[in-house]
Amino acid sequence: CGITACVGADSAVDGLLSGLSSLEYRGYDSAGIAVAGENEFGVVKREGELSELRRALGTDRPEGTIGIGHTRWSTHGPPSDENAHPHQDCSGRVAVVHNGIIDNYDHLRTQLEATGHRFESETDTEVVPHLIEAELAEGADPEAAFRSAVAQLSGSYAIACLIDGDETVYAARQGSPLVLGEADDQYFLASDVPAFREYTDQVVYLEDGDIVTVDTEGYEITDLAGVPLARDVDTVEWEPEAAGKAGYPHFMLKEIYEQPESLRQTIHGRVDSINSTIELEDFEDGAFTDVDHVQFVSMGTSNHAAMYAAAHLTELGIPADAYMAGEYAEAPRPTTENSLVIAVTQSGETADTLNAIRRANNAGARTLAVTNTVGSSVTRECDESLFIRAGPEIGVAASKTFTSQVIALTLLSECIAEDVNETTNPGRRAMLGELADLPGDIQQVLDETPAEEIADALFGCKSYFFLGRGSARAAALEGALKLKEISYEHAEGFAASELKHGPLALVTEETPVFGVITGEDDLKTVSNLKEVQARGAPVIVVAPASLERDLEFADYFLPIPETHSSIAGVLANIQLQLVSYHIADQLGRPIDKPRNLAKSVTVE
Ligand code: G6P
Repeated sequence: CGITACVGADSAVDGLLSGLSSLEYRGYDSAGIAVAGENEFGVVKREGELSELRRALGTDRPEGTIGIGHTRWSTHGPPSDENAHPHQDCSGRVAVVHNGIIDNYDHLRTQLEATGHRFESETDTEVVPHLIEAELAEGADPEAAFRSAVAQLSGSYAIACLIDGDETVYAARQGSPLVLGEADDQYFLASDVPAFREYTDQVVYLEDGDIVTVDTEGYEITDLAGVPLARDVDTVEWEPEAAGKAGYPHFMLKEIYEQPESLRQTIHGRVDSINSTIELEDFEDGAFTDVDHVQFVSMGTSNHAAMYAAAHLTELGIPADAYMAGEYAEAPRPTTENSLVIAVTQSGETADTLNAIRRANNAGARTLAVTNTVGSSVTRECDESLFIRAGPEIGVAASKTFTSQVIALTLLSECIAEDVNETTNPGRRAMLGELADLPGDIQQVLDETPAEEIADALFGCKSYFFLGRGSARAAALEGALKLKEISYEHAEGFAASELKHGPLALVTEETPVFGVITGEDDLKTVSNLKEVQARGAPVIVVAPASLERDLEFADYFLPIPETHSSIAGVLANIQLQLVSYHIADQLGRPIDKPRNLAKSVTVE
């Protein structure tokens, strides 16, 4: 879910709607706003995408210079008008938007119902306006009522609240993201910076336990007890256009095409390919000397990036495993502070990943976040952070952040291995030399890809398989994930070696099989591809252009420029992102917002 608030604008509705459209990637099954002005207080909310809310608002929009808004992805109760936020108390005086989960809502609701409060929705959020109403009824002023209500909540939340007649937004952060934006005569609150970036680049990243009050005169940040807190104002380094579509039909296509640039940002100032050195800001030489093993925890696409990194570290002699964060409870416990547990998460808010990190922290491990989101929850939970610097990614299916994750993790792995082994990987020079050329290689893929024609040729197929060996297996899994996410077609990735042990039974003339070949060892994958071709399946090979002649048997070929084998997978995945995009586009799918999926999954 995404929340936003806007204070001091001529029309709060405009600021809220533009904020919500930038936050739709966080959820889009319902949306709503509450607006207050002189003698005015109104709530409008609708099931469905933001366009439904816009339609409901029509031209007769509520007047008012202060408001809160919400775009929802259901966790408690299905999408409906009633379950949409803002939620209100019985009197309709209090309106609340919330992202996160109130763990003790059942208990609170029972208590409130016993004292006569009537609930309209199935959401956990609705207890909050009722708690505030109860405090107001006891004679508390609005700010005190808000604080007392928040003090009774347990769980994770970013909350914003508006009370009729008060013209102040009250907000609280605990475990869910919340940032404050400060423009000349306007203030904003939101789950993420793109919601207000068109108005200001001045932001305060709020912290857990912060309570914020904002009115037209300014804002104050305090702890729950009301003790003022000082928070830095940061300047956002990306331009507002970075959060727009810039002429592309979908954010995802824009983000795919941004990869030469986003990757340059990832490596900028970190790599000296002449001297073969890597410098990662806060991590000085020797920072990892004591590390004896590495565990990665992550979900979805980030998990595929972590697989690359685990393979790279293992190759450099450092024991490393990539765990799906949601399964980490079953993994061997990290034992000492010499266990390094690395959370890989684009958003920094994935609940499974945060929980895995808490487990690692409890066990006394050293924890490190690799994320795209400054100020995100994971950066607070972990001892240290490394930012992938890919810029905002709006399309739900990850593309540019995957590439930046793989490369940031490759650099980090090199630094870890160098410290532990007390020597530089002899292959580093060659790899860094190729890395400097990678943005140009990506551009070449983007300029020359035959992805659209291949997508045309495959039109109508209902099941797609992806095979790869070693690190190409991660590329195959990611290729399949991308295709299923945005096209809704059935797609599975397998280790090429696994093919004969089951998946082969599924292969027919109607099941195209993609083979990812990035290294010499992967040539064994060729015989697997010939096996599926013998059973009639169309074969599409992604491989270095120099192998095209050896791979003539393939029905279709997606060439990648020559590069180092440990980074070639990135180029293979860009070809596969493009194929997935075009297949989904031909099917008319809502590519940026696939059904049932959210960009940031903040519940387990
Ligand atoms: C969701 C998104 C995926 C993403 C995964 C992990 O499932 O739809 O695209 O890979 O979360 O997200 P994270 O922000 O932790 O990288």
